[in-house]
Amino acid sequence: MRFSFDKIPDLSGKVAIVTGANTGIGLVTARELARKNAHVFVASRSKDKGESAVGLIKEETNKDAVEFLQLDLQSLNSVKVAAETFLTRNLPLHILVNNAGIMATPFAKTVDGIQDQFGVNHIGHFVFTLLLLPTIKASAPSRIVNVSSHAHERAPPAGIEFEKLNDPEAHTSFQRYNQSKIANILFTLELNKRLSGTNVYCNSLHPGVIKTELTRGVVTDWGYWIKPILSVVSLFFLTPDDGALTQLYCATSPEIEEKNLRGKYFVPFGEVGEPITQAKDEELAKKLWDFSENFVKEKLDDDIFNKCYA
Ligand SMILES: NC(=O)c1ccc[n+]([C@@H]2O[C@H](COP(=O)([O-])OP(=O)(O)OC[C@H]3O[C@@H](n4cnc5c(N)ncnc54)[C@H](OP(=O)(O)O)[C@@H]3O)[C@@H](O)[C@H]2O)c1
Repeated sequence: MRFSFDKIPDLSGKVAIVTGANTGIGLVTARELARKNAHVFVASRSKDKGESAVGLIKEETNKDAVEFLQLDLQSLNSVKVAAETFLTRNLPLHILVNNAGIMATPFAKTVDGIQDQFGVNHIGHFVFTLLLLPTIKASAPSRIVNVSSHAHERAPPAGIEFEKLNDPEAHTSFQRYNQSKIANILFTLELNKRLSGTNVYCNSLHPGVIKTELTRGVVTDWGYWIKPILSVVSLFFLTPDDGALTQLYCATSPEIEEKNLRGKYFVPFGEVGEPITQAKDEELAKKLWDFSENFVKEKLDDDIFNKCYA
């Protein structure tokens, strides 16, 4: 039966971080976790937007344990500082929802020099998760939720064309998005493997097609003429409340532990789905992990992940 807000259990004593929680389905996710008494961190790149989301959530839920955490996934240094800021609080971490994302933006590179949709949607979350992993493990039972998309189905036949990631001519803006979204599933696959024997449940999902601000990138890339078309088409999209249900299921449903659901790909509204063959390719998942790890070590610090694998 379809998951719904009223099926979220009481989350008293639980601590959660939701990335990109200032708007869209991230905001709804953070709000509903807070409503059920979780201590929630709204991880957002903009202080203004993040703090106003915190204010809104507090007002709507009448809960006080909601905080802003500055996190810009375009910058590995910002990701590192965000993780350190959280870790200095010495709190447990039971729920991490890697939700932030950009879609179909014009070609650009992150601060660290990687194509930005891959950098924000995958690499930033890869680092953030690994830096928080010892705490997530120590807080088990705990959950890691990676928000992917059915757009992963249109990734290139190779899944990810590593050597072409930074080639501005190689892919369209949507092809770059599709690759970043298959990366979210492949990251889940490899991370889940590495978490075997722990009580950390790591899953990915497609949330549905939802009316949010995600189409901003398309407007920037294609031009303002697309805006009225998007307004009409989006009349048929899910609301953000419905769009948040699948990630809330992965983050909170007791069924995840009862049925030992790990390394799965979920679809609306909390059903186990089937990603494409390339998204289940364990060799590709390992290749992505090694690529991501080497990139981050080169840009940040060779020892960055030493503690994460403890
Ligand atoms: N909407 C859909 O139909 C749909 C379908 C499939 C999958 N998804 C996935 O769902 C997730 C949430 O998307 P949404 O639809 O809610 O989109 P949204 O309304 O555009 O929200 C995206 C969030 O990500 C944040 N973000 C973007 N770049 C960031 C960065 N560099 N650092 C930190 N945060 C950053 C945004 O912050 P700012 O406001 O500051 O930009 C915003 O809070 C994404 O992963 C998306 O791929 C959405």
